[in-house]
Amino acid sequence: MFDIPPKLIDKLARARRVAVLTGAGISAESGVPTFREARTGLWARYRPEDLATPEAFERDPKLVWDWYAWRRALVADAQPNPGHHALAEMQTRFEDFTLITQNVDGLHQRAGSRDVIELHGSLARIRCAREGTPVAVFPADESPPHCPCCGGPLRPDVVWFGEMLPIEALAAANDAAMACDVFLCAGTSAVVFPAADLPLIALRAGATVIDINPAETELAERVSFALHGPSGVVLPAMLAALDAVRAG
Ligand code: OAD
Repeated sequence: MFDIPPKLIDKLARARRVAVLTGAGISAESGVPTFREARTGLWARYRPEDLATPEAFERDPKLVWDWYAWRRALVADAQPNPGHHALAEMQTRFEDFTLITQNVDGLHQRAGSRDVIELHGSLARIRCAREGTPVAVFPADESPPHCPCCGGPLRPDVVWFGEMLPIEALAAANDAAMACDVFLCAGTSAVVFPAADLPLIALRAGATVIDINPAETELAERVSFALHGPSGVVLPAMLAALDAVRAG
């Protein structure tokens, strides 16, 4: 069991509003590779700009579509891990709880989290690359398939580098960061903006900010508490410690 500092648990036990930002690391223990880890990361073979930009899709739509199809299949075979489950449980422990994720894998929702703010879209949705229209059915046999309305290529409904984040999702995430008593960061390198701003916004607004990451990150130097361990271990330990304190 991971030792959670009593001071941290005290802050958490007294918190009314909690916001959480997750990144690829929270799904690592489900077997979904992160982006930036040197040997296993999703960018290990390709550069991000060859796979996750509008220009890459224009240049080589098949490569980009196939990469996302591969990730979709990987995620379909994966299961939420104890980190996802602990966060789904935590939503019942506070007056106000907002879960914000950079992940597109849907594992939080599969663990039971509700109203998840998806800053970078979702692998589960596709849309017309030309018109933006959402398309409900994944057409088979083409890579990429084409829009039933206009014939344009279909693309994953995810945010690529250089694209705007969904405005409402970002506004809701900013509001939660600004208003929370405790802000938890789990499994993110916190280098991709604007998501990486959220813990800093929370810090400036006076929240207790906690970073959970087995590696030393730049964020760790600035936060109130840095817990160096895997989120699948640290988050359940944090929940258990919170429940124990509240039970008196
Ligand atoms: P990264 O791959 O940049 O960072 C993953 C972080 O998870 C690293 O800091 C790891 O140390 C940490 N990690 C690894 N295993 C972990 C574990 N078991 N528990 C907790 N943490 C662990 O992924 P993100 O920060 O999510 O955007 O990347 C942010 C964005 O950059 C992504 O949403 C994606 C990417 O490019 C787009 O595609 C637009």
